[in-house]
Amino acid sequence: MNGWVAKARSLGSLVFVDLRDKSGITQITFNEDLGDEILDKAKSLRSEYVIGIKGTVNERSSKNPKISTGDIEVFAEELVIYSEAMTPPIYVKDDDNVDENLRLKYRYLDLRKNKMQRNLTFRHRVVKCARDYYDENGFTEVETPILIKSTPEGARDYIVPSRVKNGSFYALPQSPQLFKQLLMVSGTDRYVQIAKCFRDEDLRADRQPEFTQIDLEMSFADEDTVIEVQEGFLKRVMKEVKGIDIQTPFPRLTWTEAMERYGSDKPDTRFDIELIKLNDVVSDCNFEVFTKALAEGGDVRGICVPGGAAEFSRKKIDKLVEEAKHYGAKGLVWIKDEESGITSSVSKYFTEEELANILGKCNASKGDIVFIVSDKSKVVFDTLGFLRRKVAGMLGLLDDNDFKFLWVVDFPMFEEDEEGNIKAMHHPFTQPKLDELYKLDNGQILDLKANAYDIVLNGVELGGGSVRIHDRELQAKMFNVLGLSDEECQEKFGFLIEAFKYGAPPHAGLAYGLDRLVMLLLGEKSIREVIAFPKNANAECPVCEAPAPVEEEQLNELGIAISLNN
Ligand code: AMO
Repeated sequence: MNGWVAKARSLGSLVFVDLRDKSGITQITFNEDLGDEILDKAKSLRSEYVIGIKGTVNERSSKNPKISTGDIEVFAEELVIYSEAMTPPIYVKDDDNVDENLRLKYRYLDLRKNKMQRNLTFRHRVVKCARDYYDENGFTEVETPILIKSTPEGARDYIVPSRVKNGSFYALPQSPQLFKQLLMVSGTDRYVQIAKCFRDEDLRADRQPEFTQIDLEMSFADEDTVIEVQEGFLKRVMKEVKGIDIQTPFPRLTWTEAMERYGSDKPDTRFDIELIKLNDVVSDCNFEVFTKALAEGGDVRGICVPGGAAEFSRKKIDKLVEEAKHYGAKGLVWIKDEESGITSSVSKYFTEEELANILGKCNASKGDIVFIVSDKSKVVFDTLGFLRRKVAGMLGLLDDNDFKFLWVVDFPMFEEDEEGNIKAMHHPFTQPKLDELYKLDNGQILDLKANAYDIVLNGVELGGGSVRIHDRELQAKMFNVLGLSDEECQEKFGFLIEAFKYGAPPHAGLAYGLDRLVMLLLGEKSIREVIAFPKNANAECPVCEAPAPVEEEQLNELGIAISLNN
């Protein structure tokens, strides 16, 4: 056996070593019969030394039920020390609560932990399952280039300067979107790629600047076909790597329904709390915050948290109010239906009867609490969408082993950004609902829906895709709506539009965030736990310390002079 010393203990003339390798820990025993030379060597062993032993497997007299090899020990006969080790800066222990920055800096030590090796192996198995499944279903894996022109996925590009063409830059792909569409024009028919993508955006637990997609595209396929093939994959991966049978088809919610019921386009349906529209019940009330929101075209909506009256003390509610403000809410109204009567943050503006009416509309029973937000619809949805999940977490309703997949379909084609500019909600190659195209010309642009779909698991957007436009004229029209001039279209996507001149099949596709899929299947809370060498919150690689300055000579070759912003 070969591996690392997890722990070494000398007990008189006996030495016990916990030997760690990828598969776990095994106890090795060096006993006194071995002779001084080998016993002294065994006594010199320290944590993280790399050793090899030969010996005999024996049943242990005192078994250790905590580890899978706890029934046996190996009586060593030979010992080689391959490599000594200094005291490591972090413990190689699964439950060590060390600062994440330190873990990322010494990632090679962190990855020695059994949990991390398990995560890497698990990820490998998910990828293998994807390759097998898509291969069996007629997909060909094709690599697309990394040094390209910008892809419009909505984030900032990472750019790479060209030496050969000074002053010009490549962009790293935000996704293989344009190339996979070209592959459809090429007749590849069904494409898959485990694809690295790069996006310069603010990081979160489920976002990295460099991440991996399982990226797919299918010719002559409509939305239903794509969805059916993906359900087949997810069913297979759940069975193969988790041993869980999941039911297909998954529920499909329209985007509008998802927002109305859950306040989110990626609803977590592991628990029942849903949004309730209260516009009617509060329309004549004396509480100006509500009536003003309604007069300005906004909404008043609430959620009822069963059994929440006792759970949510003033202090806890105050904390929730603070968090709600991050979503734009100016406040949070609450009403408790307690044994002793109704209490509320707004009792002085409402009669007992009015409060009872609101509780009734929310189907509240004794012991429940209702939270209410009034504002522009977007703020109401964002805040309550956050809140329902937050309170579910606080009440222990989020079970990592409950996997609730669903599709969100019929996304709006466009949305308005903060400056009021129209942008594509998915991307500009998404096909709008063809029977709603009249909305482009009669001022209903924001009502136009698209043949776009997301796959959602437990409140996380696992993947997204769409049926694509394969008609040059419609594509040009969509670019126009987005405010791109003909020259800009030509400059940015001319090659795709040109390709469509020569026979483009109807096509559709989707991409999963592989890191997110693996994270959720493992019950991890961050994708950094399933990426071997992730970036930190400053988008740096703590191991190799990228990004870093380069030599003057390299800059000269590239024709680049540095002028620092910060
Ligand atoms: P989209 O931009 O929705 O679609 O990305 C697809 C999926 O990739 C994952 N993802 C990320 N994972 C980790 N870190 C990130 N920064 C990050 N950004 C996205 C998400 C997301 O659902 N070309 C289209 C797909 C298509 O239309 O076929 C695309 O990239 O899980």
